[in-house]
Formats: sequence, structure tokens, C-alpha cells
Amino acid sequence: MKEKIYATIKALEEIGFTEIYLLENNQCSEKKMALAELYRTMEAEGRCVRYEGSNGYVLGEGNPCSPVIFVGEAPGEEEDRQRRPFVGRAGQYLNAKLEEVGLRRQDVYITNVVKSRPPGNRTPTAQEIASCVSYLRKEIEIIKPKVIVCLGSTALEGVMGRKMPVTKARGQIFTYPFDSGIKVLLTYHPAYVLRNPSADREFTQDLKKLLEILSSA
Ligand code: URA
Repeated sequence: MKEKIYATIKALEEIGFTEIYLLENNQCSEKKMALAELYRTMEAEGRCVRYEGSNGYVLGEGNPCSPVIFVGEAPGEEEDRQRRPFVGRAGQYLNAKLEEVGLRRQDVYITNVVKSRPPGNRTPTAQEIASCVSYLRKEIEIIKPKVIVCLGSTALEGVMGRKMPVTKARGQIFTYPFDSGIKVLLTYHPAYVLRNPSADREFTQDLKKLLEILSSA
């Protein structure tokens, strides 16, 4: 890839080009700006639960033009420290699994339902989830992915607005209730797989299913 770019630059120089500008896809920069505006609004409104003792909101990150959003539950200790989603042990596992199936973290978008770290990493309550859900919906509306991957049951509750046991519904494909063009795939939370290594095989299967959906969409 790099060699091709160098060869193209060299060829352009040879025919007289002295400066080359790379312009970002317009649509992506519009999405980036809309997300930045959304996060400013979220900070200003303070409606999404901001737990005492946390360092504040951990915002979504990644490629806003990606056809995939991964949604987690809430930031953990390392995420709270770095103010970035999925950068602790669960995040490292997720990154490795993405690479295993040929995806790169920087090519997808990663966010959480609840945007700050619950005390002791406890599961957010239904009320706490509800306080943040409108911001998650806006993120989805801006990004307009083809697929939302819910990592665990809290993510599914935030995205679909209903509870379902992961063991029963994992691997299933749902339709996002607010945009019928978006598919929702439920898989395990990476932290669950770290605690239950036998779930790794199913996690891989689910990522492969994601690739199938993407290639057929
Ligand atoms: N678990 C989550 O649900 N989200 C993170 O960002 C990290 C761990």
C-alpha cells in the first residue's frame, strides 16, 4: 500500500506537481463535527448519569463513517483513567478479536450506553441507562451504521429498549427499532469472555456473522 502511494507521488512529481493535499471525505468530517457537537451538548446538559468519583464522561471514538458501531455497557477503571472506551483488558481482547477476523479498531466506532464509570464497576440501573439513551440514539443517528454490535445485555437494553438474557439471544440479529435499515447483532461482553474462555469460540462466530452481514448489506 505504502509503496503504491510513494510511486503515485513520484509520478505526480515527475509531471510537475509540487504540492499534494489530501482531503478528508466530506461526509466523515460532517459526522465528526456532529458528534463533537452532540458530546458538547451532553456535557452541558449533564443529564446522562455522571457518577461521583468518576473522572467524567468517556466519549465514543473511532471512524464515524464506519458501517459498524460496537456498543458496550459503561467505562471501567482504565477507561475512566484514560477517558477512552475499551482500553482496559476487555478492550485489548476486543482489539485482538477484531484483528483476528480482519477488522481494525480504528475502522469501527466504539461507544458505551452509559458514559461514565459506575462505582465499583457495578451494572447501571434501568434509570441510569435511560438517562443516557437519547445520546446513544443520536450517536447512531449521526453515524448511520449498517450494523450495531451490542456487547452484552446492558448494551442491548440501551439499543433496543428491552431486556434479554444474552445466553438466549446471542448471535441473533434484530432490527434497530428507530431505523429499520440498521441491523443489531448481540454478542457477549468481552469481559464475560475473559471470565469464561469457552465463550471465545462463539464470540469469534458472532464477529464472522458481522462480516457476513456487512458483505451482504
Ligand atoms: N466495559 C464496557 O462496557 N465498556 C468499556 O468501555 C470498557 C469495559
